[in-house]
Amino acid sequence: MGRENFGNRFGVLVAMAGSAVGLGNLWRFPYLAGTNGGAAFILLYLVFVFILCIPVMYSEFLIGRRSGANAIGAFKTLAPGSKWGIVGLLGVLASISILAFYSVVGGWTIDYMVKAFQFRFTVTDNAVLEGMFAESISSVYEPLLYTAVFLALTAFVVLAGVKNGIEKYTKVMMPLLFLLVIIVAIRSVTLPGAAAGISFLFKPDFSAITTDTVLDALGQAFFSLSLGCGCVITYGSYVKKDEHIMKTSAMTAAADTLFALIAGLAVMPAVFAFGISPSEGPGLVFITLPHIFAQIPFGGVLAILFFFILFIAAITSSISLLEVVVAYLSEEFRIKRAWSVFAGVAGVACLSVLCSLSQGVLADVRIFGLNFFDFFDKLSANIFMPLGGFLIVIFVGYKLGRKAFESELTNDGKLRVATWLLNFTFFSIKYITPLAIGVIMLNGLL
Ligand code: PHE
Repeated sequence: MGRENFGNRFGVLVAMAGSAVGLGNLWRFPYLAGTNGGAAFILLYLVFVFILCIPVMYSEFLIGRRSGANAIGAFKTLAPGSKWGIVGLLGVLASISILAFYSVVGGWTIDYMVKAFQFRFTVTDNAVLEGMFAESISSVYEPLLYTAVFLALTAFVVLAGVKNGIEKYTKVMMPLLFLLVIIVAIRSVTLPGAAAGISFLFKPDFSAITTDTVLDALGQAFFSLSLGCGCVITYGSYVKKDEHIMKTSAMTAAADTLFALIAGLAVMPAVFAFGISPSEGPGLVFITLPHIFAQIPFGGVLAILFFFILFIAAITSSISLLEVVVAYLSEEFRIKRAWSVFAGVAGVACLSVLCSLSQGVLADVRIFGLNFFDFFDKLSANIFMPLGGFLIVIFVGYKLGRKAFESELTNDGKLRVATWLLNFTFFSIKYITPLAIGVIMLNGLL
């Protein structure tokens, strides 16, 4: 069977944006901004997205398209007989470790969708909402069940294949999500007492920055753009040869970043208006949003829509993660797609169980001082992904070289791209990006 391709240009953009926009924007970004002091973290995040991550995205995209192969196969194709395949392997491992906790949060989203259907978000008492969240995630069976549903649906879409599955579902839902987040943001910034939240988001206090904050911001930039874990390589491999890599990447990054900022505006002003602690942690969004919905006309209906679409956004990201694993298994071991999906999901599910239970009965089991959930989160976002990105730009800068880089980004000279832009981008890929990522990682980890 030949490999599938995305249907058209819009389809590629939608799939890339679908992968990028997800729980990273709406759940992870607000709570990390909250625990890291707000504006200064956000500023760092923005700088990292535009200076360091975009070159990584070009690099991954071009590796994928040039090789037309999965994350590991890509390196084997472009550098036969070398050890570069390890970078792809790192990506597959990163994808698995992200899916481990991502599917649990996806499960929480389903849980909240069900609660919204029961019209349970009529309370405006923080203690009640905090209790509701703590109870939902810490019990044994319910969160496991929801996580299983989330993984099963992810598997279902991935089974349907690239064009029918991934493209179709994403196209309709993303614009709708955007609209809903804007509605919530408007309510949030017009709440009495919202101003403190707005200045928390936009007035940087640089004394709050530590080496951990810097690494967290870098990790979040990678996480939100789905970089360093083989996703963009894998999706890039399904892209036709006439695609404009730079344009698609830049638009994906712009859409994703805009989404994160609006999510910040939807959550943070309300956090301050309601007197919730900004450093609440992973529960921040799940406590704040129901509180907002209780104060919006038709909030009950909006809540249903919101959590449904948040769940779709999470699925369009988790399918891109599972696709990394499935493309690898089915192409490198020549296993049928269905079996690869099954094997991938089964492997992930074992880790997801640990992540889910770490919110309750396994809370005291610690690795490097972190519970399973936080361990997989930090391992992927702060180590695997930036390390992957570091190695990927080194690969393009030093192994593939300038000629291949240029021929991919210009589609063999068919696209006109300004020479200064190509020069600058390649310079960044060779020197600035690896150096900066290296320094940030060493500082943050040592
Ligand atoms: N970028 C996705 C999000 O923001 C998460 C993700 C990370 C997806 C890595 C794919 C790869 O939710």
